[in-house]
Amino acid sequence: MSEIEKLLENNKAWSGKMKRREEGFFEKLAAQQSPRYLWIGCSDSRVPANEIIGLLPGELFVHRNVANIVYPADLNCLSVLEYAVHTLHVSHIIVCGHYGCGGVLAAMQRTSHGFADNWLNDIRDTYFHQWEEIRSLPADEDRVDRLCELNVIKQVNSVTHTNVVQNAWAQGQSLAVHGWIYGLKDGRIKDLGAKIDCLGQVASAFRQIELPQPDISA
Ligand code: CO
Repeated sequence: MSEIEKLLENNKAWSGKMKRREEGFFEKLAAQQSPRYLWIGCSDSRVPANEIIGLLPGELFVHRNVANIVYPADLNCLSVLEYAVHTLHVSHIIVCGHYGCGGVLAAMQRTSHGFADNWLNDIRDTYFHQWEEIRSLPADEDRVDRLCELNVIKQVNSVTHTNVVQNAWAQGQSLAVHGWIYGLKDGRIKDLGAKIDCLGQVASAFRQIELPQPDISA
């Protein structure tokens, strides 16, 4: 059996296992999906989104790219975000980076990595602006890991700077954006405490709409 045929065999076994576990599992999923969470993570093969937070098919909407970056001009990411927020009405968006991220490391180096050099510019920007803090760490590994964390926090903010998320808040939708980081060495996720769940937490320069004014007529 070739290595590709093996994958199809694996799929057959998995499908059978899921059917035995819950009757009508696939029929129900085929009819509709109603995930409560959007995951924005790194493409790294060691960070499989559903698996590490124990969610089944149908429970997590996923967008992954190199180093979990959210650019306001990235139609791919924006389309996922818009569909998740305005059609699926997810309640939580999780930006999850990981320690030892190769994309973050590449952004710290002065060598070429092809297309990724352009893609990673947002991380270079964070590296440049947070250089004082990062260089205060003695070990190279710690520097990379700290930039991994700072990148997650930056991308949490980027998500909240989109009109997709701000319009949802303006319409009264409950939506929180979280910043997490996953440890490759222990399989554990750390919450970076970067949660943003209302327009008032967004710096005014990045608000595309006015904060609702309190009703003083009463
Ligand atoms: Co990565």
